[in-house]
Amino acid sequence: MQGLFISMEGPDGAGKSTQIEMLRDYLTDKGYEIVITREPGGTVIGEAIRQVILNKDYSEMCSNAELLLYAAARAQLVQEVIRPALGAGKAVICDRFIESSVVYQGIARDMGIETVYAVNEYALEGLRPQLTIFLDLDAEEGLRRKKHQAELDRMETEGLDFHRRVAEGYRMLAEREKERILRISATLPKEDIHAKIVIAIEERILSRYINKI
Ligand code: TMP
Repeated sequence: MQGLFISMEGPDGAGKSTQIEMLRDYLTDKGYEIVITREPGGTVIGEAIRQVILNKDYSEMCSNAELLLYAAARAQLVQEVIRPALGAGKAVICDRFIESSVVYQGIARDMGIETVYAVNEYALEGLRPQLTIFLDLDAEEGLRRKKHQAELDRMETEGLDFHRRVAEGYRMLAEREKERILRISATLPKEDIHAKIVIAIEERILSRYINKI
């Protein structure tokens, strides 16, 4: 079986975890061995970096350090988890990947998209997801969904303007890369979102694998 790499993106509170679980069940039925992972994290080193990046006590963290820490966690995840899994023909579902850096650091923090890609070249070594699913949610609604959470992390404590730039950034990326980034409204019922994801995977990826045989 050929490896499959799918990432799930969207603002905080968009419902990525639910869709990842539904996608896992669907791909398992298709015969895939599944690896579910997340960013930042997914490795012992990556999870340690996550503790540093998201710690709300580190409000003095500068944008450059933030960008590099996300990239460092990504480099470890790519080498330790994603590349080996794809090499073994598994399906990797990643909760966030490079698009998160492009949107949060490149656009919302205004560091520039090109800077983000340049720094991340060392982490990615050419690897990109075959399909990126973007669950689209207005910033207001995202923050409302997170409000009941006991404690917000360092990124979640950013204000409404920041999260508006995140939502707009994702929409712009999805417009630029229509073939690879699938934009779905996160306000749809979860079954409808899942159905759209399945159609995209079958049309955009699995049909091509079959055509190659
Ligand atoms: P989450 O795993 O709960 O979604 O939290 C990760 C947070 O980190 C979220 O606010 C998005 C942010 N983030 C970035 O700013 N840049 C990145 O490259 C990644 C992977 C996440």
